[in-house]
Amino acid sequence: MTPAIAFERVDLKFGAERIYAGLDFTVAPGEFFCILGPSGCGKSTALRLIGDLIAADGGRVAVNGRPPAEMWSRIAFVFQSPRLAPWRNALANVLLGVELRYGRAEAKRRTARARELLALVGLADDAAKMPLMLSGGERQRVAIARALAVDPEIVLMDEPFAALDPNTRRRLRGEIERIWRATGKTVVFVTHDIDEALTLGDRIVLLSNKPTRVLETIRVDAARPRDVARDPALRDMREHLSALFQTLESDPQETSP
Ligand SMILES: Nc1ncnc2c1ncn2[C@@H]1O[C@H](COP(=O)(O)OP(=O)(O)OP(=O)(O)O)[C@@H](O)[C@H]1O
Ligand SMILES: [Mg+2]
Repeated sequence: MTPAIAFERVDLKFGAERIYAGLDFTVAPGEFFCILGPSGCGKSTALRLIGDLIAADGGRVAVNGRPPAEMWSRIAFVFQSPRLAPWRNALANVLLGVELRYGRAEAKRRTARARELLALVGLADDAAKMPLMLSGGERQRVAIARALAVDPEIVLMDEPFAALDPNTRRRLRGEIERIWRATGKTVVFVTHDIDEALTLGDRIVLLSNKPTRVLETIRVDAARPRDVARDPALRDMREHLSALFQTLESDPQETSP
C-alpha cells in the first residue's frame, strides 16, 4: 500500500544551518501519527514540507506517492492558535478554508456540511457567535471544523492543544480521537506532550536534536480510549520516552548524529 506520507532521507538547510540529516519515516493511510521532539528540531517544518509550503534540499517527500505540490488540496492544517477571522462568525470561519480554496459559491454549497461539522466538534448552537464570544477551546474547535470542511484526506496538527488549559486539552484530545475514528482521516499530530502522544498515537516518532533524524519509532497498540496512568505498558513507554527526551533537552549535542 502506498503510504499517505513518506519522508525518504530528507535533507534540509536553512541558510548555513543544517536542520535535517536524512529524515526517514512513513505514515500509513488512516493512521494517527504523532511527532515528538525537542524545540527547534523541525517538527513544524516537517508539516510545512508535507503541505508544500517549503521544499526539501535532498531526499524525497511524497504524499500518496506524489510530490506535495500536487497534493496540497488533500491536506488541511490545524495550528496551535486557531487563527480565526475576528469579523466572521463561527460558521463563516468554518467555511473560510473552502472559500479561499474553491470560492464563495462552493462555500455556500457546503453550509449544511459546515453546520454538521460544528455539531461534530460540539458547537451546534454556536454557529452565529463571533470568535470574541468563544472560549479558547471553542475557538480551537472551530479551527478543527474549518480544517475538516475542505474534506481533506490528511489533517496536519501542530501542537493544537498546547495553548489550552489541562482540562480543555484533555477533553479536546478525546474529541479529536472520536472525530478521527468517525472520519478515517490520516492525522499527523505534532506535540511536546508525551502523554498526549501516548493517548492518541497509533505510532510515535521521536526526533533528535539538529541535525535531525528519527531517534526512535514506537507503535502503541493499547486499546482506546487510553488512560496512560492506568495502563502499565503505556506507563513503561512514558518512562522510556521521558528518559530519552530529557537527554535531548539537557544535552543538545549528545544525541545528535
Ligand atoms: N524560514 C526559516 N528560516 C530560517 N530558519 C528557520 C525557518 N523556519 C524554521 N527555521 C529553523 O528551523 C528549525 C526548526 O524549526 P521548527 O519550527 O520546525 O521547529 P519545531 O520542532 O517545530 O520547534 P518547536 O517545538 O519550538 O515548535 C529551527 O531551528 C528554526 O529556527
Ligand atoms: Mg513547532
